[in-house]
Amino acid sequence: MYSEKVVDHFTNPRNVGEIENASGVGTVGNAKCGDIMRIYLDIDDDGIIRDVKFKTFGCGAAIATSSMATELVKGKNVQQALEVTNKAVMEALDGLPPVKVHCSLLAEEAIHAALWDYSQKHGIKIEGLEKPPTDIAEVVEEEEY
Ligand code: FES
Repeated sequence: MYSEKVVDHFTNPRNVGEIENASGVGTVGNAKCGDIMRIYLDIDDDGIIRDVKFKTFGCGAAIATSSMATELVKGKNVQQALEVTNKAVMEALDGLPPVKVHCSLLAEEAIHAALWDYSQKHGIKIEGLEKPPTDIAEVVEEEEY
């Protein structure tokens, strides 16, 4: 059911943890399953993501996609990080079962939320980045109606 890469990233997730004084932090949640994902970005003066960590309270697919997403954005600039979509994460994991596709959306949303936090704190505009829901409560409300 799960690819070897998914199993690998679930059992041995990369970049788990927190970054103190992170350049940007994004927290998102899925109202239906109640899973929550938080991503921390450490971005240097040139806009390069030097470090990234995550904490995910969620299912195995959410953990595997968080892990892969952090690997994909590390070392990239903020514009390139924006292109790390859930599709890109799923492809890098050799796919997910259809019922688990929504889990990979959390990773994309968490990266966008962290990039938005960074852009707001540093007064930097990232082309193509839209304001994410401001907090988890807002996500929950949106998905319930
Ligand atoms: Fe909730 Fe996977 S079931 S993120």
